[in-house]
Amino acid sequence: MTAATRPEVNITLKGKLEQRKRVPVTERKDDTALILRRLVGYMAGGERRPRFIRALAIRMAAVALLIAIPFFTGQAINVVSAPDGEVNTLLLWAGSALIAGVAFLILSVIAERAFADLATQGLANLQQDLFARMQSLSLSFFDRQPIGELMSRITNDTETVSLFYESAVSQMIRAIFQIGMILIVMVIINWQLTLVALLIVPIMLFLTTVIQRVSTPAFTKMQEELGKVTGFQEETISAQKVIISSRRQQWAIDSNDDLAGGVFDVATKAFFTSLLQFPLTQTLTMLQIVSVLVVGSLMALHGNIPFGVVISFVGYASLLSSPLSDIANLTATTLNAVAGGRRVFAIMDEQPTVVDAPDAKDFEFKGGRVEFEHVDFSYVPGRKILKHNSFEALPGQTIGICGPTGAGKSTIINLLTRYYDIDSGVIRIDGQDISKLTQESLRKQIGVVLQEAFLFSDTVMNNLKYAREGATEEEVIAAAKQANAHDFIMNLPQGYDTVMTERGANLSQGQRQMITIARAMVADPKILVLDEATSNVDTRTEKLIQGGLQRLMAGKTSFMIAHRLSTIRNADKILVVNGGEIVEQGAHDALMALKGFYYKLYMSQFKGKGPASEDGEVDALGFVST
Ligand SMILES: Nc1ncnc2c1ncn2[C@@H]1O[C@H](COP(=O)(O)OP(=O)(O)O)[C@@H](O)[C@H]1O
Ligand SMILES: [Mg+2]
Repeated sequence: MTAATRPEVNITLKGKLEQRKRVPVTERKDDTALILRRLVGYMAGGERRPRFIRALAIRMAAVALLIAIPFFTGQAINVVSAPDGEVNTLLLWAGSALIAGVAFLILSVIAERAFADLATQGLANLQQDLFARMQSLSLSFFDRQPIGELMSRITNDTETVSLFYESAVSQMIRAIFQIGMILIVMVIINWQLTLVALLIVPIMLFLTTVIQRVSTPAFTKMQEELGKVTGFQEETISAQKVIISSRRQQWAIDSNDDLAGGVFDVATKAFFTSLLQFPLTQTLTMLQIVSVLVVGSLMALHGNIPFGVVISFVGYASLLSSPLSDIANLTATTLNAVAGGRRVFAIMDEQPTVVDAPDAKDFEFKGGRVEFEHVDFSYVPGRKILKHNSFEALPGQTIGICGPTGAGKSTIINLLTRYYDIDSGVIRIDGQDISKLTQESLRKQIGVVLQEAFLFSDTVMNNLKYAREGATEEEVIAAAKQANAHDFIMNLPQGYDTVMTERGANLSQGQRQMITIARAMVADPKILVLDEATSNVDTRTEKLIQGGLQRLMAGKTSFMIAHRLSTIRNADKILVVNGGEIVEQGAHDALMALKGFYYKLYMSQFKGKGPASEDGEVDALGFVST
């Protein structure tokens, strides 16, 4: 298994909330148009472009039909008011209006359907791209980004984009077509009356903008507050065990109430202002219609225009107001989507830091000899973690690694698997510099068993098969037997088909660990890394696991990090790490004879115990598991 878990970074709830606030919404130079184009590209670009253009054409035809209706109605009225009006002509115009109405409906349905397809596919593509991109990034990227922050990008930011795709794109197009066409038709028919019909427009735009100014920030604030509530609940529920054991339930309830109270206030403001929009628009539309009717009727009375034109204009005036307020609303949706899109694209444009060299070769296994030569490394520039690390592991050897928490033990392993690139020095496996190898071929040969057994919410069988593509059930069962896991798996309710609850919470820690060992067996790597694999289990379970481990490690170059020195006592070589330096190395007896750092660690672990009782426990020197 080469999937890595991040070294645990302890972020308190408060720190996490703080961090959420601090992460800047990168407002660089105005890139709105660029981002908008990129967003629309997902929905309407590439292979979808012809469909998008077709949908546009259909939508345009639908709007034209809609606009024809008031015109036909006006003509019908003209027939009625003309002295020589014929019933047949009246029926012709009225029938035309009816047919236009039905055709408008049909075309609109077709267009909406097409836009809905484009929207869902565009969104799916965007999400797939974002996820795939994240999968390609190196671990250092995930060190910099709090997981909650990333999840929020996958969910919340793409949600704003989704809203944009689903409503804004198609509605905006409709609104613009509708306004443009109505204006043209009105001006052609009668420009004076057009001016009357447009009188209300500036007032409407002004009011809508004012409402937007108030409600949009309120909605943004509400989203932020909601994010805090979600973050708090997510963290609290995942730490429910800690909450229960420290009897902090009431505190959790109170804190949640506080956070929820914050949402309530902004939400009321946001909803109230946005709800005001509807009655205001309605009233203005009525005013617009009345003024067109009054002025138009006066003009008709003076014989300037036929009365039918007035009726047409009443229709146009009412068709004008809704797209106008739509545009104002959709602008807010669009700007939100641009903000979301900006954050999404920031991840997509992120470059992996660990990359295969252009002339990278595949790793060729020749026994498993590992060399570190003067390796220096820092996670963050300027803060050296490893200094001048040199050691050698011969094929098939077991290398123990020990040292206090934070000494740099896991870091050594992170470099061997090339999760990070080193600052200077060289790491060779079988004589090949790992920075000149393809990552894929390297990690395929290195199996990692971590302290925290990570299991997916899937069956035991699939969790084991996950280690190697194409692993068969027989191979999996054989591996489980080797790892001493078969018996307890058979005792699970559905045996190998038992579904793990989240991260395998329905198994004991030791059982989870035996499954990860079986998983490493299935993968059958050439080089093995065990990072405190048995630190979380009691010594009796450790013995049971050890049996499996011995079989797993047989004949393989293995690295075994352990805080219980008894675990690594029999290693061929032990690296003693302190403050990022390998301070001593050698076999147990030699290191004891040195009476140096290792000797002190060893003695402190077995203080007060006879040499026969080798079940080490957490000691005073900070040997708690990391
Ligand atoms: N991803 C990371 N980013 C920055 N610093 C890290 C990271 N992982 C570990 N460190 C730091 O590197 C040092 C060594 O960590 P690690 O190798 O995990 O220690 P351990 O010996 O307990 O396994 C620690 O000081 C730790 O804070
Ligand atoms: Mg560690």
